[in-house]
Amino acid sequence: MATKLSISCLICLLFTFFIESSNAAYNVNTYGAKPDGKTDSTQSFLKAWTLACNAAQASTVLIPKGRYLIKAAVFRGPCMNRITFQIDGTIVAPTDYRALGNSGYWILFIKVDRLTVYGGTLDANGAAFWACRKSGNNCPVGARSITFNWANNVVISGLTSINSQLSHLVINSCNNVLVRNAKLIAPDQSPNTDGIHVQSSNGVTITSGILQTGDDCISIGPGTRNLLMNNIKCGPGHGVSIGSLGKELNEDGVQNVTLTNAVFTGSDNGVRIKSWARASNSFDVLVRLQE
Ligand SMILES: *[C@@H]1O[C@H](CO)[C@@H](O)[C@H](O)[C@H]1NC(C)=O
Repeated sequence: MATKLSISCLICLLFTFFIESSNAAYNVNTYGAKPDGKTDSTQSFLKAWTLACNAAQASTVLIPKGRYLIKAAVFRGPCMNRITFQIDGTIVAPTDYRALGNSGYWILFIKVDRLTVYGGTLDANGAAFWACRKSGNNCPVGARSITFNWANNVVISGLTSINSQLSHLVINSCNNVLVRNAKLIAPDQSPNTDGIHVQSSNGVTITSGILQTGDDCISIGPGTRNLLMNNIKCGPGHGVSIGSLGKELNEDGVQNVTLTNAVFTGSDNGVRIKSWARASNSFDVLVRLQE
C-alpha cells in the first residue's frame, strides 16, 4: 500500500514537473500592461509575445481580466514552439479611429504555426469610423479586428468581437484553422463589417458561431479550399457569400465548401455566389449544402 502510494506520488510529481516545464506563461501585466482601458499597452503585449515566441518550450501569452488599450500590433512568427494566446480580458481600440489609421489591421498574426487563441473580447469601437464612411468624408481605409496571415495549425476558440471597423476576423493564406464558438457582433447596416473573411486558405473549419454583422457573416474569397461551416447562426447581415470571384483573369478558384446546420435570421441572403462578368481562368465553385 505504502509503496503504491509513493509510486503514484512520484508519477504525479513528474507529471506536475512536466506540465510546468513544458509551458511558460508570459503575463502582459509583468511587462507593463495596464488593465484600465486607457493606458497604451501595445508594447507590453509585443514584449510578452517576443518572449513567448522565442521560448524553447510551449508558451502562453496571458492577458488577464480587465480592459487593455492596444494600437495596431503585429505578432510575428515563426516561433520556436507552440503558443497559446489566452485572453481573459477585453482588448479595446483607441477611441479615435485614425489611430489605427491606414494600417488595414488592428491585431495581426503573421507566419505563426501551432497557435491557439483562447477567449477574449475585442472591441474595435467602430461607430465613429462607420459614421465617417457614411458621411462620404475622406476616411482612412479602416482596420480589420483580428487577422491571420500565412498561419498554420491555428485554433481560435471562444473569441468575441464587437463593433469592428471592417471585418472582425480574417484568415488569409492559412492552412488548418479551426474557429469555434466565435461571437462576432456589429449592428445591421454597419458598412463592410464582415464576420469572417477566408481567402487563399486550405482546411478552415468554422463551427458553433454566432455571426451578427452589417455585411457578410462569412465571406469566401479566391483560393479557398476545403472550408467547412457547421452549426452557425447567421444574421442580420448579408448571409454567407462566396466571392466576388473572377475579378482577375488569373485568379485562384474556390473549391469544396460545405455548410451544415446553419440558421439564418434576418439576413438578406442565405448563401450566394458573387462573380464578375468578365473573363477569368479561375475554376468553378463546388458548393455542398446540407440540411
Ligand atoms: C472537402 O472538405 C472536407 C472538409 O470540409 C474534407 O473533409 C474533405 O476531405 C474534402 N473533400 C475533398 C474531395 O477534398
